[in-house]
Amino acid sequence: MNILILGSGGREHTFAWKIAQSPLCDQLFVAPGNAGTSTVATNVEIDVLEFEKIAAFCLSHQIDIVLVGPEVPLVAGIVDFFESNTLLSSIAIIGPNKQGAQLEGSKDFSKQFMNKYGIPTASSRTFDFTQLEEGIAYLETHPTPIVLKADGLAAGKGVIITSSVEEAKATLTEMLAEKKFGEASAKVVVEQFLDGIELSVFTLSDGENYLLLPEAKDYKRIGEGDTGLNTGGMGAVSPVPFADESFMQKVTEQIILPTINGLKAENINYVGFIFFGLINVGGNPYVIEYNARMGDPETEVVIPRIENDFVEILKAVAHKQLDKITISTTAQSATTLMLVAGGYPGEYNKGDEILGLDNISKDTLVFHAGTKKEAHKTFTNGGRVMALTSLGNNISDALQKSNRAAELIQWKNKYYRRDIGKDVLRFEKIEAEKEQ
Ligand code: AMP
Ligand code: GLY
Repeated sequence: MNILILGSGGREHTFAWKIAQSPLCDQLFVAPGNAGTSTVATNVEIDVLEFEKIAAFCLSHQIDIVLVGPEVPLVAGIVDFFESNTLLSSIAIIGPNKQGAQLEGSKDFSKQFMNKYGIPTASSRTFDFTQLEEGIAYLETHPTPIVLKADGLAAGKGVIITSSVEEAKATLTEMLAEKKFGEASAKVVVEQFLDGIELSVFTLSDGENYLLLPEAKDYKRIGEGDTGLNTGGMGAVSPVPFADESFMQKVTEQIILPTINGLKAENINYVGFIFFGLINVGGNPYVIEYNARMGDPETEVVIPRIENDFVEILKAVAHKQLDKITISTTAQSATTLMLVAGGYPGEYNKGDEILGLDNISKDTLVFHAGTKKEAHKTFTNGGRVMALTSLGNNISDALQKSNRAAELIQWKNKYYRRDIGKDVLRFEKIEAEKEQ
């Protein structure tokens, strides 16, 4: 089987690493990929939005499966593009179509969907430019903190949380009247602030059946102690010690099943991953957001815990036979630390040489994100540079290995959070005590 992965981050390197282990995989390509993907697959210089070029490549290289990593091509309709071209119809493209991707592409769509199907989420109202005055009046009576979300994709920057009604009013005006995020903020969702602890839950659907993948916890803020600006994610752990059986049962009954059934009721043939960004409020799960893809860096801890042949799973998705797959997950814990370029998520440098990669022990998997190879040397090429994943008997054990590796890799102004996973260790201790 020939497989093409679209994307260039740590998520795609992890997919490539896993797929390359399968005897069912003949040739593996990643477009555009990074220095890490080039060690397990062939990189192809095509951007994820160059649909015509992707199609031509698939035909000339007899690609059987296309696995779409990021949301941008999904929201732009890559699946619809493949499905509307008869020449491409024998290629299985794994990801939702444009309509399904609206779960991520439009916060207003996802809110309406959740309300229609009784899925627990923060209460909200959506405003467009014509309703600016109404929105301002609404904010004046809204309890604080207030959450404002640009409706469309805004590269993780479209959510503002503020305790000041004045700031909320100014933000709403900036988004709607001054189009702070362009078309993405043509509509703004104003919602209730939920106070709790977040986690990410993932399913993979074939349109009919779905698999529940291991859950993970991501650390979004740049600073230790969850402070500072939001990033794409600074590290992750899996499993999540507080996501016990009874909590996960609530997640399945109150969130996953109504979502999958709701998509069917809307006649959306949803093939691909659903990332449920959840928050645990007093033991009850609420949806903060849906994403139409896997998380990054969550993938870097979720995929290494899956013991199945991943190509067998992808084949089952393509043939609508996921009901024939039983997912097997290692009992080991996985942790990943994201090494980033100093300054990220603000201004940062690119092109710094990365040293020490050869010193990393076999205990740690190095998943590249923003890296580039030139003349056998590896250079930084993005804000999030690489994720260091380790497996261990528990989270502290895995963290020790990832932290050791993080010290060994060097470049000018490398930064990483040293407190990833520490907040959930107390839950792990409680679990261990219960078992004794
Ligand atoms: P989103 O892009 O919707 O995931 O929002 C980014 C981050 O903002 C989330 O990961 C949360 O940390 C936070 N957030 C979003 N919505 C809420 C909410 N209703 N209550 C509390 N925090 C939220
Ligand atoms: N780590 C969060 C995301 O992938 O959106």
